[in-house]
Amino acid sequence: MSSSADLLKHLAAAETAERLAAQPARLAQLAKLLLSGGESERAVDLAHRARQLAPDDPEVERIVRLVLGRSVPNWHRTILADEARNAAYDAALRRAIGKGSRVLDIGAGSGLLAMMAARAGAASVVSCEMNPAMAGVAAEIVERNGYADRITIVGKNSRDLAVGTDLAEPVDILVSEIVTNDLLAEDVLGCLEDAVGRLTRPDAAIIPSHGAVRIALAHYGKPASPNLASVQGFDLSPMEILDGRIALAAGNRNLDLRSEPADLFAFDFASGGPFDNHRASVTLTATGGPVNGIVQWIRLRMDAEGVYENRPGPGATSCWGVMFQRLPSVLDMRPGDTLTVQGARDRTALWMWVAPGR
Ligand SMILES: C[S@@+](CC[C@H](N)C(=O)[O-])C[C@H]1O[C@@H](n2cnc3c(N)ncnc32)[C@H](O)[C@@H]1O
Repeated sequence: MSSSADLLKHLAAAETAERLAAQPARLAQLAKLLLSGGESERAVDLAHRARQLAPDDPEVERIVRLVLGRSVPNWHRTILADEARNAAYDAALRRAIGKGSRVLDIGAGSGLLAMMAARAGAASVVSCEMNPAMAGVAAEIVERNGYADRITIVGKNSRDLAVGTDLAEPVDILVSEIVTNDLLAEDVLGCLEDAVGRLTRPDAAIIPSHGAVRIALAHYGKPASPNLASVQGFDLSPMEILDGRIALAAGNRNLDLRSEPADLFAFDFASGGPFDNHRASVTLTATGGPVNGIVQWIRLRMDAEGVYENRPGPGATSCWGVMFQRLPSVLDMRPGDTLTVQGARDRTALWMWVAPGR
């Protein structure tokens, strides 16, 4: 065998898996090996097969859990605990869904939004999930909750869905929750650019219909970041070039807003784009007091009536963190003083800065 890639290819061959069928623990080991080689789809498939062959074998269960657990990010539980998020989606789906509605859910995760749509009366829901381990779990959850007759979990990226095969026809409602702390990193813009129009009817409801990145002047009273020029006697200052934003809980008690908020970037998701790269600038008016950074968060307009926003403040909770970006120095700002923040973005990331000399 010339390389580990060749070895993996050999191990992944169907006949190898067949031969291991009589040895579920070794099949599970093979799944683990495939996962470490980046073959997650095949790894998840073999893990499920090992479990079916030996449902009561604790060693198989241990390895299968490891394979499935490593394949799925651990924030899934956190988002499910965000009741305001869940309620905002549920309410918007109930408002949009009528008798006979066909729904597409991009990013099934646990299947929660797809089940909300079915519960609200959708005639059919196609829910796609690109993570194979997650797609398998979602299908099990949908079955367990009695919605398998109306919800189809498709283990694909939305970009690979086609009308005529995965979807009988373009849908009436497209729902998605593929936004991150800074809105963009899960490629919501690219996915909606692709899906809106191609997979939806011209008058389809898109939930959420709009998304925005909000910013405000802020003071974070717990300067956790070290002096990078001197850490244990080493100069680490080239690290300054890396993204210095830190994620904080929306209700962090050491974070105070020091201006009214404003949108730095705002998107009409329902338009389907194009969402070409662009720059923006926003002038913030201080409410007074020291300012040592800019804080950014997200706002989702679900539809004409509903909004979800994780604006920082006492008692605020959200599954999404707010991003705090430190300024090079502390500014003592009087009420009414202004500061202009510049922003630039591509489809999956954004940057902010304050022009030198303010
Ligand atoms: C933040 S979770 C949301 C899960 C669920 N919809 C909910 O709201 O609880 C996003 C999920 O979408 C999946 N995903 C992201 N982009 C996708 C795409 N373009 N096609 C299919 N799945 C996608 C991710 O793998 C992840 O499981």
